Amino acid sequence: MGERPRVWVSQPLFTDVLARIDAHAEVVRTPEVAAHGSADIAAHLAGVDGALVTLNERIDAGVLGAARRLRVVANLGVGYNNLDLDALTRAGVMATNTPDVLTETTADFGFALLMATARRITEGERWLRAGEWRRWSFETLLGQDLHGTTLGILGMGRIGQGIARRARGFGMRVLYHNRSRLPEATERECAARFVDRDALFAEADHLVLVLPYTPQTRHIVDAAALARMKPTATLVNIARGGIVDELALAGALAGGRLAAAGLDVFEDEPRVRPELMALRNVVLTPHIGSASGATRRAMVALAVDNLLAGLGAGPHAGRPPN
Ligand code: DGY
Repeated sequence: MGERPRVWVSQPLFTDVLARIDAHAEVVRTPEVAAHGSADIAAHLAGVDGALVTLNERIDAGVLGAARRLRVVANLGVGYNNLDLDALTRAGVMATNTPDVLTETTADFGFALLMATARRITEGERWLRAGEWRRWSFETLLGQDLHGTTLGILGMGRIGQGIARRARGFGMRVLYHNRSRLPEATERECAARFVDRDALFAEADHLVLVLPYTPQTRHIVDAAALARMKPTATLVNIARGGIVDELALAGALAGGRLAAAGLDVFEDEPRVRPELMALRNVVLTPHIGSASGATRRAMVALAVDNLLAGLGAGPHAGRPPN
C-alpha cells in the first residue's frame, strides 16, 4: 500500500464532519481561526496532496510554487474569487466549490437583509438600546415597503432565483439582469423580467447584488451606477464587497442620494470602512449569508466529499467533484 495522502485544513471546522477524512488521509488541522499569510499558506501547501480552504485563504501562483504534490483544493463556499483558477490549472491542481447546499439559506438571508434595511430594524434597535425611545410616536423610524414595490436582482444564478421566488410571496415586481437571459420557463417560475443593467438600476426600489466577483464585476456598482438609482431606493449586497465602490456608496448614502444599504460583504474583510461605520442608514453584518448551522455543516460535508473525490479516495472516488 502506498503512502497515505496528506491534507491541510486551513480553519477549524466541524470536527465530526472532518473526521471522515481521517480514514483516508493524514490531516493537518488548524485548531484556531487563523489569518494565514501567503508564506504560511505556501509552507502548508508544499507538504500536502489536498487542501480544504475558506475565502480567507488566497490561493494563487505565489503560494503554489512549492506545492509539488498538491492535487486538489476544495474551497468552502460557492464563491471562489480567492482562487486563481489559471494558476491552479497551470499547476495541474483541481479546484472545487460548494454550490447548491447554501442556496436557500443565503436567499433567506438576502431577504432578511432587505427587510432589515428597508424597515430600519437594526437602526431601531440601536436607538431603543441607547435609551432614545421616550414615547411612541407616529413618525418615528419610517421605512420603505417591500410589498407593492420593484425588486431588482443583479446576478440571477441559484441564489438570485431563490430571492425572486421569495419576492413573489411578498407581492413584489421582480426585474433582473444577468450575463445571459434565463430560459423562459425559469423566468416564469421566478416571475422575473429581464432588463438591461441601466434599467435595473433606474427602476428598482430595492436592488440586491448576487453576482460573482470577477475582474469584470469589480466596482460595477460605482458612482455612475448609484446615480442612476432612485434616492428612495435601498441596496443590498450579499455577493462580494469588491463589487461595490464603497466610498461612492458611502457618499451616496450620506448625501441622501440613496435611502439605505444592507451589506454583508466588504472589499477588505474584516475591515469595514469608517465611512460606512459612521452612517445611520446602513445595516452591517459580518459575511453570514450562508451561516445557518445546518448549511455550514452541509458545506463542509460537500467540501470533504469533493476533497476525497479529488484525491481518488472515499465514497465518491472516481466521480467528478463539484
Ligand atoms: C460563499 O459561499 O461564497 C459564501 O460567501 C461563504 O463562503
